[in-house]
Amino acid sequence: MQDRLVSPHLSEEEQILEGSLRPRHLQEYIGQEKIKANLSILLEAARRRNEAVDHVLLYGPPGLGKTTLCNIIAAEMGVNLRTTSGPAIEHAGDLASILTSLQPGEVLFIDEIHRLARAVEERLYSAMEDFSLDVMIGKGPSARSLRLSLPPFTVVGATTRVGSLTAPLRDRFGAIYRLEYYDTKALREILLRSARILKVPAEENGIEEIASRARGTPRIVNRLLKRVRDYAQVKADGVITSEVAKAALDAMEIDNIGLDQTDRNMLLTIIQKFRGGPVGLDTLAASTSEDSETIEDVYEPYLLQLGFIARTPRGRIAMGAAYEHLGLTPPQAENGSNLWTSNP
Ligand SMILES: Nc1ncnc2c1ncn2[C@@H]1O[C@H](COP(=O)(O)OP(=O)(O)OP(=O)(O)O)[C@@H](O)[C@H]1O
Ligand SMILES: [Mg+2]
Repeated sequence: MQDRLVSPHLSEEEQILEGSLRPRHLQEYIGQEKIKANLSILLEAARRRNEAVDHVLLYGPPGLGKTTLCNIIAAEMGVNLRTTSGPAIEHAGDLASILTSLQPGEVLFIDEIHRLARAVEERLYSAMEDFSLDVMIGKGPSARSLRLSLPPFTVVGATTRVGSLTAPLRDRFGAIYRLEYYDTKALREILLRSARILKVPAEENGIEEIASRARGTPRIVNRLLKRVRDYAQVKADGVITSEVAKAALDAMEIDNIGLDQTDRNMLLTIIQKFRGGPVGLDTLAASTSEDSETIEDVYEPYLLQLGFIARTPRGRIAMGAAYEHLGLTPPQAENGSNLWTSNP
């Protein structure tokens, strides 16, 4: 999983490099046009009223630009960004100390917000809604509760699983944006920008080749660019041409639509071991030695987007497009029609 080239998760080496590739302003942020349009109105309105921006929830698969957008919100508003994450705030007291140290207008970024402890989450409600915080002073019979008022601030929450968020928490966000996979055109632009920053000579066809295998994900596009650059320097004259990109990506076993060995293995498991499914998530996890959360958050979203698998109440099934991609013949129903063309 760690070594997977098309993993949308961040490695340590990348964390350092991401800094230089990460767009800092809304104008530099490529794609996600709808979100950009809505967000710029939200920010402009807050600026004119001289208020803190409404709380924003960003959700979508890993590597699509949630953290980047949050940084941009703070930068565009010219305010400080405080970063934390759901699992890092263990107790209600941790939250209280973060909240009471915020300056007016500051942005508090809570990554993986679906993993907040229940007690912490409940405290957050009143803080987000009316900028107040109840704290307990003392212990035992003499304990009393004190209501502190907080300066107006903005919570930006990010999550890959919006379904795991409780309704009361979700309702406290004034703006909820869902990030979509990027189309090839946007990915091409991101690549051109990254190649310029990293000073990698690349031809248009080479860029195109990388963009088409990057699973709609900026983080993956940037990673593939770096690996193809290595290949170009070692095996060719340093320029990313179409041939070089193709050879490099083939050597990494990333196919023409960005699937790697793990994706193919998962599809083959559904198709061959479970006769196309339906197969339950846990069973699939056990037979592929992946954990079910990783399958759900990392592999599945892209395969669903491609229409290669579908989720049904009884489990995952492989769709016709998956058979075709793998060069297999889809099973025939008894009446002769293709099973997979009927609705799951
Ligand atoms: N719209 C964009 N334009 C250009 N580059 C982008 C864009 N979105 C993301 N990137 C690039 O992709 C990288 C990954 O994005 P980011 O870290 O924001 O993803 P994320 O959604 O927070 O992922 P995770 O769920 O893993 O936290 C960024 O460092 C940046 O280089
Ligand atoms: Mg992030």
